[in-house]
Amino acid sequence: MSMAKKLGTTLKVKVKVAKHADRFAINLGEGPEKLGLHFNPRYDQSSIVLNSFDGGWGKELVVDHLGFAQGSEIMVVMTFDSDGFKVTLPDGHQISFPNRLGLSQMPYLSVEGGQHLLPEV
Ligand code: GAL
Repeated sequence: MSMAKKLGTTLKVKVKVAKHADRFAINLGEGPEKLGLHFNPRYDQSSIVLNSFDGGWGKELVVDHLGFAQGSEIMVVMTFDSDGFKVTLPDGHQISFPNRLGLSQMPYLSVEGGQHLLPEV
């Protein structure tokens, strides 16, 4: 993905979660080594882990709200502004995560462990 996503942007990321993936991730940041947001549902731990990466992983935010199944097709809505990220899950539950790296653009978006169906800005 090479579209620049600026502060205030809302992204709708549609993912088909792999059937046998224990985990998948949606990453948003400046590049693969500079992630403002790593959004990482973990079926092996029944939780969602959020973190940042900048030369190493930051402190994990662990959220006990995994409401979508392996193999399902989901839409995750992500917004970010100077305060941080807001991730809205398919059931409407919202998770906030700070913009720790102070990024003002997120040109990098990747999906691991699933199929990215429809990038939207
Ligand atoms: C690690 C895992 C990474 C990433 C990170 C988030 O344990 O190997 O893929 O999820 O946690 O803190």
